Amino acid sequence: MSLNDFDLVLFGATGDLSMRKLLPNLYRAHAASLLHPDGRILGVSRSRLSRDEFLAKVESDARIHLKDDFDAQQWAVFLQRIDYMVVDVNDAAAFHTLAQHVRRDADTIVYLSTAPKFFATACENLAAAGLNGSRVRIVLEKPLGTDLASSQAINHDVARFFREEQIYRIDHYLGKTALQNLLPLRFANPVLSAVWNKDFIRSVQITVAETLGVEERGEFYDGTGALRDMLQNHMLQMLCLAAMERPASLDADAVRDEKLKLLQALQPLNNVAQQVVRGQYTASGSLNGYTEEHNVPADSRTETYVAVSARIDNPRWAGVPFYLRTGKRLAAKTAEIVLNFREQPDNPFGSRAQRLIIRLQPQSALCLSVAVQPDGGNRPAESAEMVLDLGAAAHERHIEAYERLLREVIDGRLALFNRRDELEAAWAWVMPILDYWQQADCPAPHAYPAGSWGPEAARALLAANGDRWLEEQD
Ligand code: BG6
Repeated sequence: MSLNDFDLVLFGATGDLSMRKLLPNLYRAHAASLLHPDGRILGVSRSRLSRDEFLAKVESDARIHLKDDFDAQQWAVFLQRIDYMVVDVNDAAAFHTLAQHVRRDADTIVYLSTAPKFFATACENLAAAGLNGSRVRIVLEKPLGTDLASSQAINHDVARFFREEQIYRIDHYLGKTALQNLLPLRFANPVLSAVWNKDFIRSVQITVAETLGVEERGEFYDGTGALRDMLQNHMLQMLCLAAMERPASLDADAVRDEKLKLLQALQPLNNVAQQVVRGQYTASGSLNGYTEEHNVPADSRTETYVAVSARIDNPRWAGVPFYLRTGKRLAAKTAEIVLNFREQPDNPFGSRAQRLIIRLQPQSALCLSVAVQPDGGNRPAESAEMVLDLGAAAHERHIEAYERLLREVIDGRLALFNRRDELEAAWAWVMPILDYWQQADCPAPHAYPAGSWGPEAARALLAANGDRWLEEQD
């Protein structure tokens, strides 16, 4: 059970994220008896709804998203925790009324599930109403900026009213089970620690592939693109956990210090044309091309795919390529980190490519390929795969990233949230890509057919080093 009694003030309560992820996952934590019995949720938004109308909407959406997890009896108890209030972020007086509804003898969690343009005003009005004291934590949803300067501006605005240790910047990938397991896997298992370096690893691939297109989010997505939407945040966090050094302790700052050092050790991208591939999906079969999607301009150059070939300048990884790629409308929905081991020279059993995959999606799993000789004798060895289901090993039930992160916020643990310097270092590293793409003479994105594995140029990116993406490996 969470130790802390809390009032969670949820701005943007009627929005998509609240309905799809936040409220259903608070319910899951409630149903598993993991919330303090007195903990309360105060939904806040501009929509002029009564409490009953709000609860009716929460329930109809939750039934869709919770599916079999919905239990009418538990649900009725859960609803008793919830209240609703109409607050316009620009209305300072409304924040004083809000403050009267918040208990002073419990922790206050303010979750800003709103567009970042409202963060500064919301923080100022919270502070003016006394809602920024030491028992208040503030949660910020992505996107936290669209480039380094805008990210710094957001951080600066929030820092005027909240101390860094009160700020929880969400990257929901950090709540995923397989990523949770990565540091213990690496540092608590000698057999893995021993090979986790350039002497044994030839290259690392990090993929987040989605089969969906941009759906109804065309307008948002067209101003964003795959680099800002996925690579700057989720994928660089995956990279940090896969490559960082061992933290001195599990303290939030010790972990985040090491992530920061890793981001700072990334070689600057000084030849984007050679190191980065951007792509855009085109129509294929019954699937629309990106520029035919709803609310997307016909001449859009926004990337729906990006692949980067990166290097890390430190003793552990000198010379090892790290390939990152993500895209919409790819051939499969998957998220994984692949360590390709070096082949063993002079191996009498024949050389086979060996790899370790840390799979986040569709299941959380660890897959290790090992050379075996099923028929004995002196035939060449074959590859077999050992699979560990990380979900089953760790829990009786599947825990969604947002449930885990919400519980971490309620308990005041910062390790799974981005610190300001870390986030800004990630932006600083991707800036040469954004700058290059803005140049007038920059070539258009490479086309790739919807449902494929991305543009041909991404294959060439690896071939330049004699490497292949996972789906093309033996
Ligand atoms: C979000 C992006 O941050 O992550 C979406 O804005 C993307 O475009 C989503 O679809 C992917 O998350 P998950 O958990 O489904 O892999």
